[in-house]
Amino acid sequence: MTGMPAKDVEQVETEILLEGIFRRWGYDFRHYARASLKRRLQHRLALSGLNHLSEMLPKILHEEEFFNLLLKDLSVTVTEMFRDPHFYVALREQVVPVLRTYPFIKVWHAGCATGEEVYSTAILLNEEGLYDRTQFYATDYNNQSLEIARQGMYPLDNIRAYTANYHAAGGKASFSDYYHAKYGSAKLNEALKENVTFAHHNLVTDGAFGEMNLIVCRNVMIYFDGTLQDRALSLFCDSLCHRGYLCLGTKETIDFSAVSDRFEAVAGKERIFRMVAHAASHVAGGCTP
Ligand SMILES: C[S@@+](CC[C@H](N)C(=O)[O-])C[C@H]1O[C@@H](n2cnc3c(N)ncnc32)[C@H](O)[C@@H]1O
Repeated sequence: MTGMPAKDVEQVETEILLEGIFRRWGYDFRHYARASLKRRLQHRLALSGLNHLSEMLPKILHEEEFFNLLLKDLSVTVTEMFRDPHFYVALREQVVPVLRTYPFIKVWHAGCATGEEVYSTAILLNEEGLYDRTQFYATDYNNQSLEIARQGMYPLDNIRAYTANYHAAGGKASFSDYYHAKYGSAKLNEALKENVTFAHHNLVTDGAFGEMNLIVCRNVMIYFDGTLQDRALSLFCDSLCHRGYLCLGTKETIDFSAVSDRFEAVAGKERIFRMVAHAASHVAGGCTP
């Protein structure tokens, strides 16, 4: 009898682990891009001193601490303030003039990680005089990241790079106006979070999030397979106002997705899209046409 090749065995083990994680803890990684997922599982396997992926199953099912470590491994939380400054230049030049015509603005940062991204948009909209009429929702499925986001305190060592990004992004003031340095950390001004609601939200399992004028979901869908990307994009369609904006990461696109014909490119290189057609049932009250 010939058994299956080792790489297929590993595939079966991976699927069993992902199923176990989902059924035991509700986190659904079954449609995450496999290559990076496998690297991360292998990393935890090596640290655990076990030989086979399947040996991690009992630990996942019965040891919450082990699962939390694995969850940390599986979450890529790399972020920075004004990441890809040219994106913020495009946001300022192409989207802000339209937002300015609205009496009230709703912005959703999906996959906000430790918060640097939503604070960047808050600074930008503040400089454009729109902060006071904007409600921000910043969500992630990683509660540890959300806790850091709520605090708005970052290592002082990062500030030099953030300052450079801020200026490259067309910042109009001095970046140091937005934080206070204390014991090796930079604490962002409290005023920046006044209109920000941080909340747990999982793009795989949770529902639409309200009538948004602007959704920013950057460098998140890159970890999803095609099925999951379609799910997230359809969720964004349901969450956007008529003619709402969707911003993705520089390596992400709506091309070839199930919703590609529902958006037009506003700034193609910076991955800013605008909804063109909206199912009649979703042209809801409270949204600016
Ligand atoms: C690489 S970070 C990107 C952070 C930020 N958007 C940026 O571009 O700098 C990816 C974030 O997506 C979050 N994420 C991954 N899968 C998610 C899901 N299913 N639902 C919500 N957030 C998710 C991770 O926890 C992480 O914080």
